[in-house]
Parts: sequence; C-alpha cells; structure tokens
Amino acid sequence: MAEKLSGVKGMNDILPTNSYQWLWLEGKLNAWLAQYGYNNMRTPILESTQLFTRSIGEVTDIVEKEMYSFVDSLNGDKLTLRPEGTAGVIRAVVEHSLLYNATQKLWYIGPMFRHERPQKGRYRQFHQLGVEALGFAGPDIDCEIILMLSHLWQILGLDGVELHINCLGNKEERLAHRQALINYFEQHQEILDEEAKRRLYTNPLRILDTKNQAMQELVTSAPRLIDYLGEDSLSHYNGWKTGLDALNINYIENPRLVRGLDYYNLSVFEWVSSDLGSQSTVCGGGRYDPLLAELGGKDNYAIGFAIGLERLLLSLEAQGKLPQKPVNDIYIVSDGDGTTALGFKLAAQLRSHGFSVIQNFGGGSFKAQFKRADNSGSALTLVIGENEVKQQQVVVKSMALKTQEVIELGNVIDKVKQLINR
Ligand code: HAM
Repeated sequence: MAEKLSGVKGMNDILPTNSYQWLWLEGKLNAWLAQYGYNNMRTPILESTQLFTRSIGEVTDIVEKEMYSFVDSLNGDKLTLRPEGTAGVIRAVVEHSLLYNATQKLWYIGPMFRHERPQKGRYRQFHQLGVEALGFAGPDIDCEIILMLSHLWQILGLDGVELHINCLGNKEERLAHRQALINYFEQHQEILDEEAKRRLYTNPLRILDTKNQAMQELVTSAPRLIDYLGEDSLSHYNGWKTGLDALNINYIENPRLVRGLDYYNLSVFEWVSSDLGSQSTVCGGGRYDPLLAELGGKDNYAIGFAIGLERLLLSLEAQGKLPQKPVNDIYIVSDGDGTTALGFKLAAQLRSHGFSVIQNFGGGSFKAQFKRADNSGSALTLVIGENEVKQQQVVVKSMALKTQEVIELGNVIDKVKQLINR
C-alpha cells in the first residue's frame, strides 16, 4: 500500500462533522452583512509580495516572519499567500477605480495564511470575514462598525466579548510619540529584551505590546500616545466614544492597543473573548485612511475589521451556541424489481415539496439498508419492496415515533408533511 500523506502543519481540513457549522455561520453572516448594505468582494489568494510589505509594514511580525512568500519559478515574480484581506481589497479598489465619485461598503470571506506557531485558535491557514467601508470620514461610520459587530454577537448569542478601543492619531502625532518612546526606552536600555532592543529604532510602538513580564512596569509608565494627539484626532476619538455611549455600547479604553499592522490611524479596536485562552482576539480592525494613497489611489477614508472565524466558532462552541447537525428528512430503502425506479420517482416528488432525500444505492439486504438509514440520521425511512411496487404503496417508518404505516402512493406527501410537521 502506498504511504499516506498528511496535510500541511497548521492547516486544517474541515470535515462533514463540522462543516455544517461553517455553513450555518456563513448563512448568518450573509444575512447580517446585507442588513448593513455591504457588497461582497473576492480577490485572489496570491498577491505580489510588495503589496503586503508596503501596506502591512516592513517591521511587523507578519512581514518579518509570517508570510508564505516564494518566487514564481516560471517568471521570477515575487508572490505571497495573503496573510490578511485588506491589502488585496484596497489594491483592487484602486486598480478598478471603485472610489471614483463613489463610496464602497465591501465584505469578503476566505482563507488567510500566516506562518505562526500553531495552537488552539492560531493556525497557519485560517479564515477571516472582513469588512471595509471606504470613503467615509467618520466618526459616524466608526460607530456603525462597532454597532454592527455588537449586533452580530447578539444574533449569534455570543456572550462575554469585550470591546477594547484606542485612537492612534495621525502620522505626525505618532512620530512625535515615537520619538518620546525612543528617548524613554533609551534611558532604560538595561530592562529591554532582545526583541525590544531590535525594535527600538524601527518600531518602538510594538514594544508596548510585549508579553515579557519583566518589561510590564516599564511599558506601563511609557509615554502615552493620547498625550500627543492634536485637536482633530481628539475630536474624532471623542466623537466616536460619544456615539458609542449614545448606542449603549460598553468599551474599555486601552492606550496600549496598537494592532499588529502598520496601516492604521485614528480609531482602532479589538473584541476579546473570555473563552479562548491566549488567542483571545475574535475580531480586530480600525481606520486606515492613509492606505488608499499609499497604494496609488487618491487620498480618501477607510475603516474596517476582520473576524477570525475559527476563533468565533470556538467561542460559540464553548458557550454551547452552535446548532445541532441538520437532520436529513427521508431515507429511501428499496429491494427488488422496479423498486429503484419507484424510489427515484418518489424522491423527485418529495424534493419538489422541499424535503431532503437520500436514496439507498449499492443494494444490500433490508437489514443492512435500515442500518444505513439509521446512520444517516434521517427523520423518516420509506420502504419499497416488490410488493409495494405492485400495490402502489410504500411503508413509512418514523425513527423518532417508532411507528410504521403502509401508505398509498398518492398520500405519501401528505403523510410525510404530517410526520415531519412542515
Ligand atoms: P488582524 O488583527 O491581523 O487584522 O486579524 C483579524 C483577526 O483574524 C484576528 O483578530 C483573529 O481573530 C484572526 N486571526 C489572525 N491570525 C490568526 C491565526 N494565525 N489563526 C487564527 N485566526 C487568526 C487583520 O487582518 C486586518 N486586515 C483587519 C482589518 C480589516 N483592519 C481593517 N480592515
């Protein structure tokens, strides 16, 4: 026998035992997005490497060590499996002039790739549902973005997600804060770990994100960006918070929330679940106005977020909020001359009334077929033998009620409707 092959580490198969949960979630997401006027967008999984280095930033974990990048051996192009969806969407929006005299509310769903150390809630291929609202200055849209997410948690019955917010100001404000951080950390070089030292002059803001316990006190007393924000940024931030207060949405102001991608300005946020252990961020996003111009478009406004679907499903599972696997309505067992043909006819009729039907194929004794019917988890079994073909009847068995009746063919639909209650 040939050797079995395994999938790539950190990239999961979604098997039929779970895929119905994905379909259920995707159905809820589709309906929810339509309620807020968002349109679907689909971009390729592969993009040029420079799209990500330019948008996410050279000195970020993603670009420094998590991208699946390779040279196309056929033409030498430098390509990368997308680690996130925003860059590709903005590339496409600029390329196709979608913001010419227009605004856009866009959403996408699909696999993303990051070469991280796999653990619960963190994978190398994972799925995001992303939303990008383009052409709106805010802060009204910033409020709606948060409102729609809290509405989604409600729709899904998800409890215990906390909203953390911060304001990252504009480039000049961040530069002034950056210089203050460098000055501060330079004075405390002896406490910095290797990573922090490496980041000191490239991306000191990320030092604030450190998980190193020994540096916690140092980062807690570091200069705060909020003290460097000018009037416009503060007014945007206050407008956002006032809007959230008016909508009765609770939030935690977290001055250390900087996000792991460089394109953000002004409003940033994360929703954190209490059910996920260390990989607790279910959704992250914020405003990223400068990116449109940085990718060759005109100056404009942009805000968005992405939900990690594996993490969302894990939280829902932990709270017992996932649905049961949907039940198949009818399984048809048949044995003898003319029984398969009658099976096809009945199945078509039942499907035209909206029922789901599995026909037994591959023969087998009635006993073996009943076992398959049981394993299929169907609500009803219809039994067709040669006698039934002759009499133009069928036996209808209800698994739940443990009943069995002989029904004239003309009355089967009514009987099924009655038993399945539809
Ligand atoms: P992000 O914070 O890098 O933002 O990712 C968003 C979400 O994707 C995370 O909160 C998490 O739930 C999920 N996620 C990230 N990495 C992994 C992983 N390795 N395994 C499982 N889930 C993961 C973005 O990607 C931005 N593009 C969001 C955005 C859109 N900002 C503006 N528009």
